[in-house]
Amino acid sequence: MMMIVRTRAELERALSSIREKGASIGLVPTMGALHEGHLSLIKKAKAENEFVAISIFVNPLQFAPEEDFDSYPRDFERDRVLAERAGCDLIFHPSVEEMYPSEPMQIVHVQKGAGVLCGKSRPGHFDGVATVVLKLFGLFRPTRAYFGQKDAQQVAIITQLVREFYVPIEVVAAPTVREEDGLARSSRNVRLTPEERAEAPRLSQALQKAKRAVETGEQKRTSLVSIVEEELQQFRHGAIDYVEALSYPELHEQEELSGQAIIALAYQFSKVRLIDHILVEVRTEKRGDANVSNDDESKVASC
Ligand code: PAJ
Repeated sequence: MMMIVRTRAELERALSSIREKGASIGLVPTMGALHEGHLSLIKKAKAENEFVAISIFVNPLQFAPEEDFDSYPRDFERDRVLAERAGCDLIFHPSVEEMYPSEPMQIVHVQKGAGVLCGKSRPGHFDGVATVVLKLFGLFRPTRAYFGQKDAQQVAIITQLVREFYVPIEVVAAPTVREEDGLARSSRNVRLTPEERAEAPRLSQALQKAKRAVETGEQKRTSLVSIVEEELQQFRHGAIDYVEALSYPELHEQEELSGQAIIALAYQFSKVRLIDHILVEVRTEKRGDANVSNDDESKVASC
């Protein structure tokens, strides 16, 4: 039977017996509104650990005041059924007061890698993510923690968080799960209008077009950004938030890309902002010999 706990004390009681047995614990942090992307993380955690826990917590600290904290989709009953079916052993579903019992004296400040891509248009967002993830790591003390490569910038920041704070947890990144038409699965997709939903798969198609340009030798940041922008400018709905090409995982700006790079976009539809990206391998030895990894499923993602 899957356990559901809502307080830190209950969580500690539930996990202490698991820890006593010396069982490995896999943690999947989520904000709920579970879909195939989240479920793939739970299944992977199940395959690699003896006990699998997920957290469902819409973290106010990572939403700016004008963002969609209040309207973020929440359906605990549905999530409970899906999580259990995927093999989850425990859901931690705390209130905001439980996670932030008092005005925080400190939060994690992400100094590098947060001023670009999503961090640029969402200042403070990754401080909120890093803070809540560090809290969850402290509460669960899991063996492994699972994150979607879909949120590539989040993965890069959390991997570095664990390294820099010597947190004894293995961070595992799992491939992006997409709809059949290529749209990256997201809890926010339900908030697209039917017309926007029809247009949304063209986000990943625009990135694929840039990838093909890399394959035929394009390395210039501005050219790759323009290829994607030109595609998005043809949309009948919404507006570009950003299109960027950076080194990955360092997220450095380079006019001529080389090695592993991320081409990323954020696009604002009427009620929802979607993000997607593609990782490419830019070979620089010989111009015209640029290439992209064939490992598409693990390399194509949205942040
Ligand atoms: P949330 O958006 O609910 O995502 C939870 C986890 O599921 C993240 O690691 C995310 O990358 C992964 N995920 C989402 N869509 C995916 C997809 N299509 N394929 C594969 N994995 C996918 O990300 C967050 O919540 C929060 O920032 C959190 C880490 C929980 C901190 O509050």
